[in-house]
Amino acid sequence: MTPTTPDPTAASADALADDLAFALRLADAADAVSMARFDAADLDVQLKADASHVTEADLATERAIRDLLSAERPADGVLGEEYGATGDARRQWIIDPIDGTANYLKGIPMWATLIALAVDGVPEVGVVSQPAIGRRWWAAAGRGAWTNVPGETAPRRISVSSIDDLAHSSISFQSLHQWDEVGRGEQLLALSRRVWRDRGYGDAWPYMLLAEGRLEFVAEFGVKEYDIAAHVPIVTEAGGRFTDIAGAPSVSTRSSLATNGILHDTFLELLSRNGGDE
Ligand code: IPD
Ligand code: CA
Repeated sequence: MTPTTPDPTAASADALADDLAFALRLADAADAVSMARFDAADLDVQLKADASHVTEADLATERAIRDLLSAERPADGVLGEEYGATGDARRQWIIDPIDGTANYLKGIPMWATLIALAVDGVPEVGVVSQPAIGRRWWAAAGRGAWTNVPGETAPRRISVSSIDDLAHSSISFQSLHQWDEVGRGEQLLALSRRVWRDRGYGDAWPYMLLAEGRLEFVAEFGVKEYDIAAHVPIVTEAGGRFTDIAGAPSVSTRSSLATNGILHDTFLELLSRNGGDE
């Protein structure tokens, strides 16, 4: 390519860098709202139609993000857990204002704000902000996955582990109840016998531990797009693989499987076995 020919790849990479910088500003705005009410004795909590909880902070945080989106990205679509879908643009911001509401309302610091930008349904920018523990992770397609580390001034680039032996792997399963509900309780037990460690770290955090190379497997069921879209660029830019439980590269099929990549097919094979067959 001659120097005078515009490079469309470079232009879109620059646009994505702008979108990532903007997503980080959205996370700053979200953190200010969510942290102001975290562990408040008089937090307003309601039940939604699906019997899950929603707090005043879930609603206010999503509104703060949407206000900035309307002001600075008015042409883009938005899908948020609390206020639904608006617009039908090819570019869609996918937001979970508070992922881990059950933890938030109990004053447990394992909750996060999830912000993704999907283009034609593919998440290309992801930010996971977990302000109650002072941590944040972010990525954009082709630009690596990064995190802040308290006490370090520069962001740290992260990557998944190189563990290739199931017997040395560490898995996180979200909750026993979730696996049992979809008839996979025995399968999880069988899996736990094959690996080094199993723990239910919960919500967004285990995906980030995986992207940092501290776990090899996270899987869950019943997840919506806004529960997982932000994780996809972070896990994949860290060198991992993200699919649904059947191996399809989709965030809309209500299940997720994130791994360090090397062990993905091994886990898929184990998850395709009936019940707890070993
Ligand atoms: C929940 C979390 C949890 C997942 C549930 C979600 P919420 O989100 O993502 O990890 O297992 O399916 O509903 O309701 O706390 O935003
Ligand atoms: Ca939520």
